[in-house]
Amino acid sequence: MFIYSKLRFYIGFVGVALLTSCGAGVDDPGKEYAPNMYHAVPYEPLKQIKDVDAGNWVSSLDDGQGEYFSSNPINPDSMNMREPVPNTVRRSEKGYLPYRIPKDSIAWAAANLKNPLDSTQAIIGEGQVLYTKFCGPCHGANGKGDGKVGKVYQGVPSYSSRPVKDYSEGHIFHVITHGIRRMGAHGSQLSIEERWKVVRYVQQLQNQ
Ligand code: HEC
Repeated sequence: MFIYSKLRFYIGFVGVALLTSCGAGVDDPGKEYAPNMYHAVPYEPLKQIKDVDAGNWVSSLDDGQGEYFSSNPINPDSMNMREPVPNTVRRSEKGYLPYRIPKDSIAWAAANLKNPLDSTQAIIGEGQVLYTKFCGPCHGANGKGDGKVGKVYQGVPSYSSRPVKDYSEGHIFHVITHGIRRMGAHGSQLSIEERWKVVRYVQQLQNQ
């Protein structure tokens, strides 16, 4: 009887210990099984542990640094990511500035934006590839609004019908970026340069 109750006590104790080790709080990530699977060898951008010895009890590398150490001694204040240079705006690798014209300023965009890409066959061809992937399902291969999704989704206009036929390149660019009424925004799926390529192809469809 005594042995039995003792056994029960131990089973209970081990159970509670296992369960509590799974708990995670705001300041405590909980226990890790095989910790060196969780800690990346490269510097992690949003993590900064400056203590070189942190986690050296678990480290399997002989670089003299603990497993949890993650900061860059070359950057100021050992930060992993550098702060942007003050008073500068990040450009894409092709030199484009971020597009900041708000959604409700479509009239301004329509009147003022100019396509930086020439209307060459190569550009139009690349626009067609992107169009087929991102717009064709609704707008259809020839821009008549008869894509497979468009038939079900409905209300997709034909590019060659008025008023869409007369929309300027700036208008089309703005619509792709922010969406309009029932059409969703595509600014996060396509880069600025890709959107201008699609515009070149849509302009071709406006005249078909
Ligand atoms: C999920 C379906 C869908 C996709 C994908 C889609 N569109 Fe549309 N598009 C619509 C619908 C619906 C409308 C009509 C919106 C309205 O007037 O309510 C529309 C309208 C338009 C218009 C006319 C805008 C205006 O001012 O009336 C243009 C131009 C256009 N789309 C271009 C594109 C391009 C380019 C792409 C690809 C990058 C694209 N669309 C992707 C559904 C879609």
